[in-house]
Amino acid sequence: MSKNRIHEIIRVNQAGELGAIQIYKGQLAVLKRKEIAKELVEMLEKEKKHYEKFNNLIREYKVRPTALSPLWKRGAFLLGVVTAVLGKKSTMACTEAVEEVIIDHYENQSKYLKDKDKRLSKITKKFCKEEKEHLEIANTYDTGSDPIHNALKRGIKLISKLAIKASEKI
Ligand SMILES: [Fe+2]
Ligand SMILES: [Fe+2]
Repeated sequence: MSKNRIHEIIRVNQAGELGAIQIYKGQLAVLKRKEIAKELVEMLEKEKKHYEKFNNLIREYKVRPTALSPLWKRGAFLLGVVTAVLGKKSTMACTEAVEEVIIDHYENQSKYLKDKDKRLSKITKKFCKEEKEHLEIANTYDTGSDPIHNALKRGIKLISKLAIKASEKI
């Protein structure tokens, strides 16, 4: 049923944007005095706007938020801290991996919503575009193509996909 699917979409997106905020907060906790902090703050501010939007939508559509929020909150912050401690490559490798998953995710949602909820379709399309800008920022850096950084990116993508699946339902 499309109403259920729309609720899942709003639920997972609110959780995902919270996760994004927490990753950047975790990274900034480590890197706030570094040059790279400028980019992280810029992306963090965008994620806060995305989160705010889904907070409003969750109220408007009367969607139950995911019960997993406390887990994503801590887990994403930790991911931010760990990737920041590993260095600049890993910091931006994290953004690259997460955004590649999220861009696909928003693109699919926007397509699905097109003839079901025009407004939500537009919102997800706009956010998709803004996540692409974050991916572009990450790609101005060297995110590493050695086995360790590749494994890190694969791992983060897998975690992101699992987190998406879980947050839609739970
Ligand atoms: Fe976002
Ligand atoms: Fe983003």
